[in-house]
Amino acid sequence: MRTVAELVRVSRPWVVAHRGYSARCPENTLCAFEAAIDAGADVVELDVGLSADRVPFVLHDATLERTTNGRGPLHAHTATELEALDAGSWFAPEFAGERLPTLQAVLERIGAQVVLDIELRPFAFESRAPDDALERQVHALAERLGLLGSVMVSSFEHGFLTRTGDLPVGLVYAAPPEDAAARCRAHSALFCALNAARATHTDIRRLTHGGTRAVPYTVNDESEQRRLLDWGAGGIITDDPARLRDLLAQR
Ligand code: G3P
Repeated sequence: MRTVAELVRVSRPWVVAHRGYSARCPENTLCAFEAAIDAGADVVELDVGLSADRVPFVLHDATLERTTNGRGPLHAHTATELEALDAGSWFAPEFAGERLPTLQAVLERIGAQVVLDIELRPFAFESRAPDDALERQVHALAERLGLLGSVMVSSFEHGFLTRTGDLPVGLVYAAPPEDAAARCRAHSALFCALNAARATHTDIRRLTHGGTRAVPYTVNDESEQRRLLDWGAGGIITDDPARLRDLLAQR
């Protein structure tokens, strides 16, 4: 799916590639994003935070250790330092040399090919919201690159989502409160991402009846995917978008 306008017209559940095709490539790398597009994902989900010199980088964790050969917090390193890191070897030796991408590099490479769900990581939230706050930079980059029609933003930190201009948003919850659908409507959210391990049939029914697409994360087990789809999930966030597409094709 290339644009959000196309995506919202799709009545079947969305296939959302969690950090790209992260079952096949190191998560949140260009390799993972291109593989997700090849696999037919409707949406590529990725995570962003800021470097020490306030450049948006694509990384899930607040720190570098798990998915790169760097150490310490993302925000303690400059863009030059971060761009020199290896973000592939931890996954498998053949991915050695895969880079930690900037958000700009990702938008330039794949932004015109697929809808992106850019998750603004809570650790990058700044209540004073300077001009170069993460959410403002995401909007500015999308606008400058002509990608306002294909970028959505989401976050566990809903304070971000009041400052993303006209970008469509999704609210992320570990466990949605009873009034989650009303909160989503207040943000004009296109979807609500909820933790599949805690999601109940009632959560999904309340959201759906309230006019919000319920999109559980992160679901790789087929029987669990079937159960959530039977409950009315409007999409699934998965590490393996090809398998989810196959499942949807069978239903
Ligand atoms: O964006 C929704 C989902 O991916 C949240 O899970 O742990 O990858 O941030 P996490």
